[in-house]
Amino acid sequence: MLLYVACFAACLAALCSAQELNFNQTWNLTTVLSNQAQLTQFTTHLNAYPALFSTLANANVTILAPSNEAWSKYSGDDGHSANDTAFLESLLSYHIVKGVYPSVVLKEDVKFLPTLLGPGQFANVTGGLHLGAYPAEGNVVFETGLKERSGLVTADIAYTADNISVVGIVHIVNEVFRIPIAEVTTVTDVGLNDVAALQLTQPVDQKLVGFLGLESDWTMFAPKAAKGAFPSTDAESFAIQEYHFIKGQVLFSYNFTDRREVTTVNGKNLTFYVAPNGTRYVNDAMIVDSDYLISTGVFHVIDTALDPRIEDARPSYLNATDSSSTGQPASSSSAGLSSGAKVGIGVSVTIVILAILGVTAFFLLRRRKRRTGPPSELPATATKAGGWREMHQMSDDKHPQEMQGANSVHEIHSEGRSGRGEMEGSSEGTRSRYGGSQPYEMQ
Ligand SMILES: *[C@@H]1O[C@H](CO)[C@@H](O)[C@H](O)[C@H]1NC(C)=O
Ligand SMILES: *[C@@H]1O[C@H](CO)[C@@H](O)[C@H](O)[C@H]1NC(C)=O
Ligand SMILES: *[C@@H]1O[C@H](CO)[C@@H](O)[C@H](O)[C@H]1NC(C)=O
Ligand SMILES: *[C@@H]1O[C@H](CO)[C@@H](O)[C@H](O)[C@H]1NC(C)=O
Ligand SMILES: *[C@@H]1O[C@H](CO)[C@@H](O)[C@H](O)[C@H]1NC(C)=O
Ligand SMILES: *[C@@H]1O[C@H](CO)[C@@H](O)[C@H](O)[C@H]1NC(C)=O
Ligand SMILES: *[C@@H]1O[C@H](CO)[C@@H](O)[C@H](O)[C@H]1NC(C)=O
Ligand SMILES: *[C@@H]1O[C@H](CO)[C@@H](O)[C@H](O)[C@H]1NC(C)=O
Ligand SMILES: *[C@@H]1O[C@H](CO)[C@@H](O)[C@H](O)[C@H]1NC(C)=O
Ligand SMILES: *[C@@H]1O[C@H](CO)[C@@H](O)[C@H](O)[C@H]1NC(C)=O
Repeated sequence: MLLYVACFAACLAALCSAQELNFNQTWNLTTVLSNQAQLTQFTTHLNAYPALFSTLANANVTILAPSNEAWSKYSGDDGHSANDTAFLESLLSYHIVKGVYPSVVLKEDVKFLPTLLGPGQFANVTGGLHLGAYPAEGNVVFETGLKERSGLVTADIAYTADNISVVGIVHIVNEVFRIPIAEVTTVTDVGLNDVAALQLTQPVDQKLVGFLGLESDWTMFAPKAAKGAFPSTDAESFAIQEYHFIKGQVLFSYNFTDRREVTTVNGKNLTFYVAPNGTRYVNDAMIVDSDYLISTGVFHVIDTALDPRIEDARPSYLNATDSSSTGQPASSSSAGLSSGAKVGIGVSVTIVILAILGVTAFFLLRRRKRRTGPPSELPATATKAGGWREMHQMSDDKHPQEMQGANSVHEIHSEGRSGRGEMEGSSEGTRSRYGGSQPYEMQ
């Protein structure tokens, strides 16, 4: 019921934000976009791809449309400019989330949402490359490649497919997203130099070549300090490396439920633990920074390397409180996070129906009373909001200054927090961050 009321309000607010519409018209994508002064650039770009436009016009998607201001700041991404047509189509696809997510649902909890950017030149995640949506100070922040963030400036502009049976939603965001890039480039950019160095050593483990290339659906654990943890013989080294990789599953932090086991490329299992305070572990290693999106899946930073020879290694907090091996249920903190999981098909379908009810109600309302006020728009999200920082603390109590947030990407060992502009500047043009830079083509 609460969801109904909230969604109803959101849908209503959404409709109000597109002003001066002639209500004899259908609220399709064309009419909604043409009534948004902030979206002329986005609309121009989208119009260049009729097939993509038609997919969106059929609704059941959430369009995260960068504002004109966002496009004017955008200088392309690593050698790809916005006039590179193959790149731009992929870039636009990465701004389209499958399913309908009004802001009220995005504000509930952290979600990693699949986009229309499917396997191809820029990504290889079955079902579509993900982006992160985090609640932040009453609003929503989106997180993309290299943990870059984009705020929600205008939420919940609803439209329908032409037969009005399906709803879509447009949210206006204040940055053009960055498509997640190859893992090896990301670990380098994040400052995990030991991992990067290890992956560049020869010979390369043949079982991991696919990960380092473009095979789909991987989860990796990247130790902060790998130096010394890896033995010198290739066989031993490979066995340990393989213990850090899960193939065929993209596991985000909310998938790490207490005592869940997953099988690694090595063949041995890893076990996840969630401490009562919500800190997550994989075997005895603490997950200090999670959910780095990469073109083939995701990786998480752990404090120490995993050792397949001690498969039953457990976090030390269990020594004091739980010496038996019987599992304790996860804490409320972890339950809160994993509820991100709960938004599924059911909710989306319900929302579609509720949104249609909202549309109908608004039509009725509109007939009785003409709107006089300004369009109702949500306030811009400050991209440097403090709430963001807190969010990242969920998995990071050890190195709060070093490992948090997007701004630390290039300066992981410094206290400084640089802005997006700086970050772009420092990575721009130095190398291709997609296939071309991959050192693994050498064999
Ligand atoms: C729909 O169009 C007709 C004729 O143009 C007009 O009389 C009527 O007021 C319009 N209805 C609304 C809700 O705008
Ligand atoms: C949207 O509706 C308008 C007016 O009803 C119509 O002219 C236009 O063709 C529609 N656009 C699409 C993409 O269906
Ligand atoms: C409405 O349109 C959508 C997309 O255009 C289509 O998938 C759906 O089957 C249509 N529904 C009806 C009842 O015509
Ligand atoms: C594409 O954009 C770049 C700068 O962003 C410009 O130098 C180049 O001339 C443009 N190419 C075309 C074909 O418009
Ligand atoms: C809407 O999209 C979601 C996610 O892709 C899908 O599960 C659902 O079946 C779709 N619903 C409709 C009515 O097409
Ligand atoms: C994506 O991964 C699949 C196997 O997982 C592979 O067959 C395909 O070639 C990859 N795509 C690209 C573009 O590398
Ligand atoms: C390893 O984990 C899988 C689930 O991912 C489970 O089915 C299997 O029983 C586990 N194996 C061992 C030896 O615990
Ligand atoms: C916890 O127990 C394991 C073995 O049961 C042991 O190796 C480890 O050192 C203990 N940790 C602490 C902090 O006592
Ligand atoms: C991860 O969690 C999400 C949300 O609960 C769920 O939809 C997804 O299937 C999970 N993925 C795996 C591989 O367990
Ligand atoms: C959470 O609990 C673990 C295990 O007791 C502890 O090591 C860690 O420091 C705690 N983190 C916070 C943020 O309290």
